[in-house]
Amino acid sequence: MGAEARAIAARAIAGVLRGASLSERLPALEERVAPRDRALLRELCHGSCRYAVRLEYWLGQLLARPLKTREYEVRALLLSGLYQLEYLRVPPHAAISESVEAARLLGKPWAVGLVNAVLRNFQRRRDALLVSAGRIDAVRHACPGWLLGRLRRAWPEQADKVLDAWLQRPAMTLRVNRRRSDIESARARLAAAGIEARPVAGAPDALRLERAAPVERLPGFAEGELSVQDTGAQFAAALLAPRDGQRVLDVCAAPGGKSGHLLERADIELTALDVDAARLARVAENLDRLGLTARLELADASLAEGAWYRCDYDRILVDAPCSATGVIQRHADIKLLRRDSDIEKLAEQQARILRNVWPRLRAGGMLLYVSCSVLPEENAEQMTRFLAEHPDAEVVPIALDGAFAAGVGSQLLPGCGPWDGFFHTLLRRRPA
Ligand SMILES: C[S@@+](CC[C@H](N)C(=O)[O-])C[C@H]1O[C@@H](n2cnc3c(N)ncnc32)[C@H](O)[C@@H]1O
Repeated sequence: MGAEARAIAARAIAGVLRGASLSERLPALEERVAPRDRALLRELCHGSCRYAVRLEYWLGQLLARPLKTREYEVRALLLSGLYQLEYLRVPPHAAISESVEAARLLGKPWAVGLVNAVLRNFQRRRDALLVSAGRIDAVRHACPGWLLGRLRRAWPEQADKVLDAWLQRPAMTLRVNRRRSDIESARARLAAAGIEARPVAGAPDALRLERAAPVERLPGFAEGELSVQDTGAQFAAALLAPRDGQRVLDVCAAPGGKSGHLLERADIELTALDVDAARLARVAENLDRLGLTARLELADASLAEGAWYRCDYDRILVDAPCSATGVIQRHADIKLLRRDSDIEKLAEQQARILRNVWPRLRAGGMLLYVSCSVLPEENAEQMTRFLAEHPDAEVVPIALDGAFAAGVGSQLLPGCGPWDGFFHTLLRRRPA
């Protein structure tokens, strides 16, 4: 029992090693394992990615000869085997025998002996391996060296807390749809279903769950009373603060988390853009469930074309594509997928979107720039460059309790509050 889940986990992790995200592959793979094994499958995938840098280091010590690069699935199976032995309360003999069986299920009979030997060897050498892992900064924190370096340079005092948070399982936060419910009644309904939830100071629509629960179990989810949204992502709507009757543009909208929140808070005319058709379809689904409507448009926000570009707006939300380093706790595969060289390219993409969108903001209107990155290149430095090029932009100060000042913006850091890492800068367009 469990060998199948381990084989499927190895496929999903191998996908990450090849460059595909877990959120792309895991939902389809989950369908292929028995419902009782799905939690194990998710745990193996997320946990192995969370600790991959350390697990890879151990694997390097345990293998007599390096594995061939193309053996992604065997490598993934070994990583998840090591993860189980060190970080899960699975009996070691089960972790080893089921991983060995999984090698057969993957059609790799040649790897059966190897998997068995590496995992047993880990058990024998564990104490020494733990000590040596503690001596190398990147291995100790299970964080790629490039990211560790950037984080320590950007946030020298907070870096250790962030790194610790990146090794924890994420909390689950809900947003209560104030058009259909309120915090106290939502909390009472959850409690009646055996789900403990607490309000979050400073985030009036948020309820944080003591333990994550599948959305099907959340009373009121199907009826659009609740959404799953991290606390950090819930500040955008309040900061942009659109008023009834205003025209609002959400330029990087999918899957529609912040679009939904904006519409729950005010009677606005919302245009939601995204460049990705499949993701835009999810905006439609999410808004339908919440009983909200927006004009959806498939468009590239860095190009001055499309119906959206023929209007002016009172409020613009730019929730830019970014490194997602702020949400690593939730998406541990980011540690493996992101490369140092991505940061500059992402910063250029963000700058193109900002420059293109700015002229569509009415004089006196406000634009909120948001990223779920913790890196200044995508955040404070991005904003400083933008302000230097746009004399008609002025910064509106933001007061978020628990956030750190970051140049002309405000940075929430994981591990330093009940949220993922988000950066915000609010700009007003001066009248001409
Ligand atoms: C951080 S996610 C947005 C999350 C969303 N605002 C929410 O709260 O649910 C960034 C989005 O930007 C979209 N995107 C990336 N480049 C874009 C572009 N040039 N134009 C429009 N959308 C873009 C991506 O497809 C992705 O859905």
